Amino acid sequence: MAELEIPRLYYGEIFSRLLVILIFLTLFGCSSAQPQEAPAYIRFTANATEFPVEDYYDYIIVGGGTAGCPLAATLSQNYKVLLLERGGVPYGIPNLMTQEGFLATILEIDTFDSPAQAFTSEEGVPNTRGRVLGGSSVVNAGFYSRADQEFYAKSGLSWDLRMVNQSYEWVENAIVFRPDLRSWQSSVRDGLLEAGVSPYNDFSLEHVLGTKIGGSTFDSSGRRHSAADLLNYGTASNIKVAVHANVERIILATSSPADSSKLSAIGVVYRDTRGHYHHAMVRGQGEVILSAGAIGSPQLLLLSGIGSRPYLSSWGIPVSHHSPYVGQFLYDNPRNGISIVPPTPLEHSLIQVVGITESGAYLEAASNVIPFAALTHPAFARSPSSPLYLTVATIMEKISGPVSSGSLRLASTDVRLNPSIRFNYFSDPKDLDLCIVGMRKIGDILRTRSMEDFKFTWAGGRDFRFLGPALPTDQSDDTLMGEFCRRTVSTIWHYHGGCVVGKVVDTDLRVIGVNALRIIDGSILTVSPGTNPQATLLMLGRYMGLKLLQERTR
Ligand SMILES: Cc1cc2nc3c(=O)[nH]c(=O)nc-3n(C[C@H](O)[C@H](O)[C@H](O)COP(=O)(O)OP(=O)(O)OC[C@H]3O[C@@H](n4cnc5c(N)ncnc54)[C@H](O)[C@@H]3O)c2cc1C
Ligand SMILES: *[C@@H]1O[C@H](CO)[C@@H](O)[C@H](O)[C@H]1NC(C)=O
Ligand SMILES: *[C@@H]1O[C@H](CO)[C@@H](O)[C@H](O)[C@H]1NC(C)=O
Repeated sequence: MAELEIPRLYYGEIFSRLLVILIFLTLFGCSSAQPQEAPAYIRFTANATEFPVEDYYDYIIVGGGTAGCPLAATLSQNYKVLLLERGGVPYGIPNLMTQEGFLATILEIDTFDSPAQAFTSEEGVPNTRGRVLGGSSVVNAGFYSRADQEFYAKSGLSWDLRMVNQSYEWVENAIVFRPDLRSWQSSVRDGLLEAGVSPYNDFSLEHVLGTKIGGSTFDSSGRRHSAADLLNYGTASNIKVAVHANVERIILATSSPADSSKLSAIGVVYRDTRGHYHHAMVRGQGEVILSAGAIGSPQLLLLSGIGSRPYLSSWGIPVSHHSPYVGQFLYDNPRNGISIVPPTPLEHSLIQVVGITESGAYLEAASNVIPFAALTHPAFARSPSSPLYLTVATIMEKISGPVSSGSLRLASTDVRLNPSIRFNYFSDPKDLDLCIVGMRKIGDILRTRSMEDFKFTWAGGRDFRFLGPALPTDQSDDTLMGEFCRRTVSTIWHYHGGCVVGKVVDTDLRVIGVNALRIIDGSILTVSPGTNPQATLLMLGRYMGLKLLQERTR
């Protein structure tokens, strides 16, 4: 979370603190999770290598992520389901199971097998996508909050709000917890209130104005829960999960000899780690459902010949269906903020407290224990046992509903490689104005009494030790503040869109112009759910599963 272009500054200071940090670490550091029992889903999960060359299912779901897992579990109640995930199982990987492992996971050197696949957008902002069963919900910061009320009207879908609530509750009963605040999160809460971000809503899963403690997918012992846990609710006799299964394309065929105008999805081709191909085919009234995320779903459509005709032709990909907006309307919520090194070490915390203002600021905080080696050695993730650590405390703001949009283009026909991605941060001045509002609020928070304890005192005075850029001194200057926003922009990993409702999919999330093919994940979002998206996408998976079951029994 901290700007990891870590400093050239303050080495003297840092060294003088190392002793304290070492003591802190011996006392509290490197907490490791208790040994875990194998999750129930292991019984119906296997490597793709062990799957038949060809098999038939009612529903084939591509992508065992945040939306894909609850969807698969729900559909398996009545139907034979295959869930295909390119990554492995998260169970047994310590970094994935603890908050402390968060940074190490997303900074880990990307191999075809690591659970976070790094990508850098054309703006030069480092970003990442989950590549593991449970998807990005296994590598994320765990903050959980339901969509804002406007989302349902603005999303382009017609929701059954009772079923929406039931779906949230189903998820929440299984994997959502009330977090315990420690010093940094408590101080930020107090600072938000002092800075006028009111009322105080205490603990709430709703998106409400003011300051609140949100839900978390980390439980009270610090262990992560994720979409993968929801697979435990699958009907074991009906569901199969294949991991290390890279889906390369959707198989399309004409619907009937009489109607050659409309194609149907009849299956998918996937490849296992030995390089062998498998065909999973749809039977009866079944469907192929893409849940490969905002990067993966548009990429797979393009590789399957569903996209803009001239664009696909330029790649030599045979055009199955001309769909001009595949990969367009791709959004990322810009994040900006400040990081400080506190005078005494802090505990580790990911996002727990948020502040939401009427003027549109959305504020969050984190504190990270960073291996000291990270300061000089970019590959520190390779030696996580390094004994020297530094704590960094961050306050950040994000644009909760960016209007600037970008797009995605293929960089290769190899599905394992990232497409080229452009988000066009702040290309719409409305987004920049909101960043200025948010950064000013951070300035207000830094001036509160609650933040005093985090300053250093030295002969000349008392102030924060910033890691990376400090806010401009004159925070009333729009030009300076805007320049700061542009210069320090990074991501909060809430990218969405790419197959948006009304352009690529219809209001039932069917791919427009193709039968038996739907998309159910963050790529369909025309607008951000206001808050951090995982709650909405977990709900969407469950909700669409229930909808499809209803549709079939009608
Ligand atoms: C580092 C990070 C921190 C975040 N923090 C938070 C947070 O604190 N709170 C919050 O609400 N949100 C957070 N988010 C955002 C949130 O986690 C995502 O928006 C959400 O998980 C996306 O869900 P999805 O179902 O659209 O995609 P994903 O969960 O990413 O699922 C897509 C799945 O498809 C698989 N896949 C892709 N292509 C293929 C293929 N060709 N074949 C087979 N499988 C494929 C992927 O491996 C992946 O498992 C964070 C995200 C990240 C990356
Ligand atoms: C599955 O394949 C992966 C990658 O090749 C391998 O690391 C893992 O041990 C395999 N798991 C099983 C259960 O065979
Ligand atoms: C859904 O839950 C929200 C929040 O608890 C509540 O305000 C709303 O009335 C509920 N809607 C329905 C239709 O039950």
